Amino acid sequence: MRWLRIAVPVAAFAVVVGCAQEKKAAAPMSTEPHVMASDEVAAGRYIVRIAGCNDCHTPGFLENGEAVPEDQWLIGMPLGFRGPWGTTYPRNLRIKVSEVTADEFVAELKSRNTKPPMPWPSLHAMSDADLRAVYAYIKTLTPVGEQTPEYVPPDVEPTTPYFLFVPQMPAGAAPPAQ
Ligand code: HEC
Repeated sequence: MRWLRIAVPVAAFAVVVGCAQEKKAAAPMSTEPHVMASDEVAAGRYIVRIAGCNDCHTPGFLENGEAVPEDQWLIGMPLGFRGPWGTTYPRNLRIKVSEVTADEFVAELKSRNTKPPMPWPSLHAMSDADLRAVYAYIKTLTPVGEQTPEYVPPDVEPTTPYFLFVPQMPAGAAPPAQ
C-alpha cells in the first residue's frame, strides 16, 4: 500500500488547491451597481453615450448628434458657459485622462464639485467600476487638440464666444420655486 501513502496526500492537496481556485473565481463582486458590457472599454463608451458627456465635451454634438465622428468625441469645447458662477469651458477629456491615473480620475470625480453646468453630482453617484470604465474608454481615444480655456471669474468678460445662462423674468411671471 506504499502507493496509497503517496497518492492520498497528493489527491488531498489537489482538492485543496482546486477549492482555493474555485473560491478565487467566485469571490464576491462589489455590490455597487455597475454597467455590464463585453469589456471595460465597451462599458465606458456606453456610459459616455447615455450620460450625455458628448453634449458638452464634443463640439457640435448637441446640434448634430451621432453624425459627429467618434474621432472628435470629447475633445472639449472652447465655447463658454457664462452665468453667476463666471464662465466655464467643457474640458478636453482626452488630454485630461492622458495626465492622470485611473485612481486619480476616480478620486477626483467622486469628490470634486466645482462649477456648473458640469453635472458633478451625477458623477459622484457613479460607481468606481463605472468611473474606471469611462477612464478606460477615453484612454483609447488619441489625445488631440488643445486644452480649453481656463475658468473666467464672473466680473471678467470672456474673450471667447459663450452661452449666457441668466434667468429672464418677463413682466408678470412668478419667480420659480426654489
Ligand atoms: C452640461 C455640460 C456638461 C456635461 C453634460 C458634462 N460636462 Fe464635464 N464639464 C463641463 C464643464 C463646463 C466643465 C468645467 C467645470 C468646472 O470648471 O468645474 C467640465 C469638467 C469636466 C471634468 C474635469 C476636467 C479637468 O480638466 O479637470 C471632467 C473629468 C468631466 N467634465 C467629465 C465629464 C463626464 C465623464 C461627463 C459625462 C458623464 C461630463 N463631464 C458631462 C460640462 C459638462
